[in-house]
Amino acid sequence: MAQWGPVARWGRRALSALGPWGPGSITGRRRSISLSVGASGIFGSRGNSEKKFSLQDVAELIRTRACQRVVVMVGAGISTPSGIPDFRSPGSGLYSNLQQYNIPYPEAIFELEFFSHNPKPFFTLAKELYPGNYRPNIIHYFFRLLHDKGLLLRLYTQNIDGLERVSGIPVSKLVEAHGTFASATCTVCRRSFPEEDFWADVMMDRVPCCPVCVGIMKPDIVFFGEPLPERFLLHVLDFPMADLLLILGTSLKVEPFASLSEAVGGSVPRLFINRDLVGSFAWRPRSRDVVQLGDVVHSVQRLVELLGWTEELQDLIQRETGKLDGRDK
Ligand code: OAD
Ligand code: ZN
Repeated sequence: MAQWGPVARWGRRALSALGPWGPGSITGRRRSISLSVGASGIFGSRGNSEKKFSLQDVAELIRTRACQRVVVMVGAGISTPSGIPDFRSPGSGLYSNLQQYNIPYPEAIFELEFFSHNPKPFFTLAKELYPGNYRPNIIHYFFRLLHDKGLLLRLYTQNIDGLERVSGIPVSKLVEAHGTFASATCTVCRRSFPEEDFWADVMMDRVPCCPVCVGIMKPDIVFFGEPLPERFLLHVLDFPMADLLLILGTSLKVEPFASLSEAVGGSVPRLFINRDLVGSFAWRPRSRDVVQLGDVVHSVQRLVELLGWTEELQDLIQRETGKLDGRDK
């Protein structure tokens, strides 16, 4: 019988844990796996008779503003250029390097049951991701430029590093689908706290506790068995309205996020930039898909060049880097 390796187990459990479409408690929803497979079918592909789209075509649609409602989906691969490891890359990914956290199996770091009796590994990871430890890279700033030009309808991120916020994209334009360190909730009384209330403890290697009931204070990162943030429901409006979908740096393994890649209309171009060919781009490509395999920075730089935005983006990065330098002094 085939063995479920840690990664496969994680993917499988993530499917059932993160559930199908939107929030609501996902614990015990056994229908989630088949529902998300079914959901893919609903959005299915169109014929392959049209001319193949290229990166240049996508750039042209953006440059001429033929597309003005761009939806972006991202994963950990866009933050590796900032120095943050992704989850599943063999060797360098977080799941291959959890020995230091002393946990029994990789996904335990995001499991409530494990957290309730040993929250330390999660808080060690939290300390590593402390705002200020890492900076946005060219990819985050490319999205910021899209926003500044009025072209970004919404950015859906699976990342919990908060770098989209740091790049200056307003929170109203973001859906942080797997949560954020910007706030925390007491695991006992469910009171909510701002991030200022827990970082000092985390940085001193102490587990932050609720000042009211002394329950463990858990940053609002989505764990297995927890509902997705309510804002995730925005997908119901955003994806049917999108006229271009950009997907970068994700293995498209975790549901319900992965299925969003199929939630745009069949005639809507999709640009997928990633090291590996995965998800529906591999098993159900559409005629207006553009797939750029390889390093994500290289592909984004190429797209920016085709758009004629290179100088503008450099200026933006210089300005924003100056602000961060000032903040960190
Ligand atoms: P993964 O680690 O599963 O996938 C990252 C993808 O990015 C892989 O396909 C890599 O090959 C690719 N990649 C990494 N660096 C790259 C680079 N420089 N250039 C091009 N491609 C690169 O990360 P996610 O898909 O984000 O959940 O994982 C989804 C969720 O799994 C995470 O949000 C996390 C985890 O469970 C939570 O944090 C709750
Ligand atoms: Zn409490």
